[in-house]
Amino acid sequence: MTAAPGGREELALAKMLIDCDPGHDDAIAILFAARRCDLVGITTVHGNASLENTTRNALAICTLAGLDVPVARGCAAPLVGVATHAGDIHGRTGLDGAELPVPDRGPVEAHAVDFIIEQAERHKGELVLAVVGPQTNVALALRREPRLASWLKAITIMGGSTTIGNITPAAEFNVYADPEAAAAVFACGAPIWMVGYNVTRQTGFTQPEIDRLRAAGGGRTAAVIADLMQFYLDGQRRVFGLDIAPMHDVCAVFPFVRPELLTFVEAAVEVELAGRLTRGMTVCDLRNKRAGAPGAIQEARRPNARVAVASDARSLIAEVIDVVLAFP
Ligand code: RIB
Ligand code: CA
Repeated sequence: MTAAPGGREELALAKMLIDCDPGHDDAIAILFAARRCDLVGITTVHGNASLENTTRNALAICTLAGLDVPVARGCAAPLVGVATHAGDIHGRTGLDGAELPVPDRGPVEAHAVDFIIEQAERHKGELVLAVVGPQTNVALALRREPRLASWLKAITIMGGSTTIGNITPAAEFNVYADPEAAAAVFACGAPIWMVGYNVTRQTGFTQPEIDRLRAAGGGRTAAVIADLMQFYLDGQRRVFGLDIAPMHDVCAVFPFVRPELLTFVEAAVEVELAGRLTRGMTVCDLRNKRAGAPGAIQEARRPNARVAVASDARSLIAEVIDVVLAFP
């Protein structure tokens, strides 16, 4: 088992850029990173909804919470094929369920791909790139700037799964929505933390926790978030028969805030691109985790990521709720 970075002894906030497709759980990841990291920027991408919607949603969340964080628009479609959206879960706008404020500003001029490169160069060796949507922007940034992987401290990914998928039996949505991009990111050589659906599906808001957001005398932010989470939970019940509002994306922030709440193993991760039934599946080689596995298996594929296999979900969610309640 390897400890994630940023142990309790580290005092400095991790410098973080979030690439996202808000998205109800993306919104929580933004709020949490804004308080528990040094959030230097947000880039938006197609995914849960169109780029226009995910960008407006990111700006609306920043307006709601009073976050002065630059937002840069990214790619509207995957490297190959057409965009896949998740309207059944996140609604027509990508962030249905509440009255959101009209954004008080627009995105910056720079394209997300250029913004990622600029920030990585400015914060060389310090920047953690949290990728919580389809990985199109990041894949193109790596192609546009071959030094990018060496500039980044880490890439932390909400994506993939060591077990079941959500959008298909084998594939998790973010990787499925742009498998070619994900394959490029996992192969880029930067230190990678993967927090997949196998862990995040068990980590979410219950109905009493959503009620707490509304009832605890929190600020306007908590009240709006409670409405958003109620919509999201109702969708999870309707589509998946789940009884929690899974906080997938914020789990990818935790390795750099409270690493003791997640357990990682080092593994080789590759993305299936050709399978009729398995396109977008993250094939994680966990065989070498078996004690006494023959050397040949252990050497078969060199690990390229730290892969989350467990979380202290209740403590993680308790921390998230405290942060949301503290917003005005
Ligand atoms: O599969 C979960 C992922 O897909 C999350 O990032 C959620 O926001 C959606 O993008
Ligand atoms: Ca997302």
